[in-house]
Amino acid sequence: LVAPESGALASGRDGSGRLADPEQIAEACVAMLTPDTLKGKKVVVSAGPTREHSDPVRFLSNPSSGKMGFALAEQAVSRGAQVTLVAGPVALEAPHGVTRIDVTGTEEMLEAMRQCTAGADLVVMAAAPADYRPAQPSAHKVKKGDGDLTLTLTRTPDILKSLDLRARGTLVIGFAAETRDLEAYARKKLQDKNLDAVVGNIVGHAGTGFGAQNNAGRLFFRDGGELELPLGTKGEMAARILDWAQERL
Ligand code: CTP
Repeated sequence: LVAPESGALASGRDGSGRLADPEQIAEACVAMLTPDTLKGKKVVVSAGPTREHSDPVRFLSNPSSGKMGFALAEQAVSRGAQVTLVAGPVALEAPHGVTRIDVTGTEEMLEAMRQCTAGADLVVMAAAPADYRPAQPSAHKVKKGDGDLTLTLTRTPDILKSLDLRARGTLVIGFAAETRDLEAYARKKLQDKNLDAVVGNIVGHAGTGFGAQNNAGRLFFRDGGELELPLGTKGEMAARILDWAQERL
C-alpha cells in the first residue's frame, strides 16, 4: 500500500488525499515484484564524495555523484534488506524505505559508518571519501593576495581500513576507481583493505564512472577470480553486485 500524501486538496481543504509521488509508486511496484532475497539482512551502503573545507566557503572534493551507491541501496531495499545509506553531499533523493545518514567530511563518514555497521551482514563502500584535508582550515574566508597560495594537506582516515569489517564477519565490498592499471590497483586495495571483493572501474572517460548514468567494470574476488560487469545502467550493475553478494550471505 502506498499511502496518499498530505497537502492542499481539490476540494479546497488540506489533508491526506494527494497522489503519492509517482517515483515512490514505481519503487514500491519494483520492490513488490522483486523476490525478497535479502530479507532479514542488514545492509550498509556508502555513497557520494566527502568535502574537506579549507575555509567556510571552499573545499576539496571530487566529482562523485552518489548514483552508484544510491542504486545499490535501492536494489538492496527492493530485495527486502534493512538498508542504511551513509551519503556525502549529493543532489539525490534516498530510495523509499532506506535509512539515510548525511555526512560532509571523511572523519564524519567514518564515525557514521562505525555506528551503523555494527552487526551488518553486508557493507558496500561506494563512496569516494577525500583522502586529504587542509591541515589548518581557516575559521574565516581567506582573502586573496597577489601571489600563489600553498595549501598544506594532511591525511584523513581510511574508512575501510579503520573499520576492518571483514574481521567482524561482515561481507565487505569496496570500489576502486582508477584511470589505469585497473586490475593491479584493484587487487592491491582488495588485500590492503581486507575486502571480500572490489568493484574496479575506469574513471576519467565520458559516459561511465563519476556522475554518469551508466557504468562498467570488473568485480575482483579474494580467491583470484573475477566477474565482468558489462556496460549498463548503475541499477543493472548494482543488481549484478548484489546477486554475487546474496549468494554468500
Ligand atoms: N575508501 C575509504 N576511505 C578513504 C578512501 C577510500 O574507505 N579515506 C574506500 C572507498 O570507498 C572505496 C575504496 O576505499 O571503496 C577505494 O577507494 P579509492 O578512492 O579508489 O582508493 P584510495 O584508497 O583512496 O586510494 P588511491 O586514492 O591511492 O587510489
